Amino acid sequence: MPSRGSAVFCSGCIDMLRRLPSKRKLDGRQKCTIIGADIPETEIFRGDLLIQSLSGSPRSIGSMYYYDDTGSALFERLCQEDSYYLFRAEREILAHHAKSVADMTGPASIVELGSGNAQKTTLLMNAYMENYGPTSYAAIDVNRSILEEAAENLLSITPDLNFTGIIGVYQTGLEQAAAVIGPKLLVCLGSSVGNMYDDELHDLLHSIRSLFALGDFFLVGIDLDKNSDILEAAYNNQSAILTNLCVLQHLNWRFDGNFNVFQFRHVAFHNKSLCRMEAHVEAMQAQSVNLEKLEFSFCLEKGEMIRTEIMRKVNLHTFNETFMNHGLNPVHHWTDSDRRCAVCLFQIVDK
Ligand SMILES: C[S@@+](CC[C@H](N)C(=O)[O-])C[C@H]1O[C@@H](n2cnc3c(N)ncnc32)[C@H](O)[C@@H]1O
Repeated sequence: MPSRGSAVFCSGCIDMLRRLPSKRKLDGRQKCTIIGADIPETEIFRGDLLIQSLSGSPRSIGSMYYYDDTGSALFERLCQEDSYYLFRAEREILAHHAKSVADMTGPASIVELGSGNAQKTTLLMNAYMENYGPTSYAAIDVNRSILEEAAENLLSITPDLNFTGIIGVYQTGLEQAAAVIGPKLLVCLGSSVGNMYDDELHDLLHSIRSLFALGDFFLVGIDLDKNSDILEAAYNNQSAILTNLCVLQHLNWRFDGNFNVFQFRHVAFHNKSLCRMEAHVEAMQAQSVNLEKLEFSFCLEKGEMIRTEIMRKVNLHTFNETFMNHGLNPVHHWTDSDRRCAVCLFQIVDK
């Protein structure tokens, strides 16, 4: 694990970023519909919300800013890091239990929140197609390129799939996906619910309950609470450091900003009392930041931190209670062989 002092941007990092794979493009012959391409990105990455979070105490940036094209490619690289157990653990669970999920829900259209490249979802789709034949799939994500990659991944194994990509944030994506007729399985993998603050998680569950039908299912991947050493190693490897610092690059290109990324360092630690990992960028020098397109400026003191992400580490009992309070009953859960992560199936039983 690199020492925290070394977790800064350097010219080697820039070379590494240049070597990230460029995204493949769909060849246009496949059954793929992308919805929301006409929505201005300013409605997805909303400047007013960013100003609000950067003006808070502590200052923070929403975790969706991790996922421009560079950040999405870095996330894929993070999933290959030895210390980042989350991807492998969830893949193991789905490899062993996707068929049980399909058996328990019966035939359903699948809607995925924050699909990323949907690599693990292929395991689930295979199980549904084997059990029930053609199955429709809708992926919601803020990043268009990653939706195209998800379409490629899924269509390469199941060419008959009807793929719909919905570009947008969870809430607007859910409103569109809820219009799909028939029973549905909503899926959220990669511990993405763990990136939500309490109010965001409550809003999401409230929307699911009101938009989806009685009897619909929700399959959620979570990271279970564990030893600080394992957690801190997962979020302090080279890919995690780069991913975190690239959030500032993202703000620079999107909003014409002047963050000097070489003057920040990455900080990630286990906040045991709040049961979460936290990632921050810390200013190594005082600096004044201007986001020109938002007409927003602020001053950072030397040593001041901006929180870029939280990653909740979950107690299963408390987690189930939160869902039950929103009318979602736990049906079953599965863990990986090291009991690091869980995939939990809930059903809407009360509207
Ligand atoms: C942690 S990654 C998980 C990706 C994939 N589900 C997996 O398990 O590997 C989160 C994904 O959600 C997307 N995302 C993040 N915040 C979002 C938001 N508010 N609305 C929609 N998508 C979001 C990102 O672009 C990214 O692809």
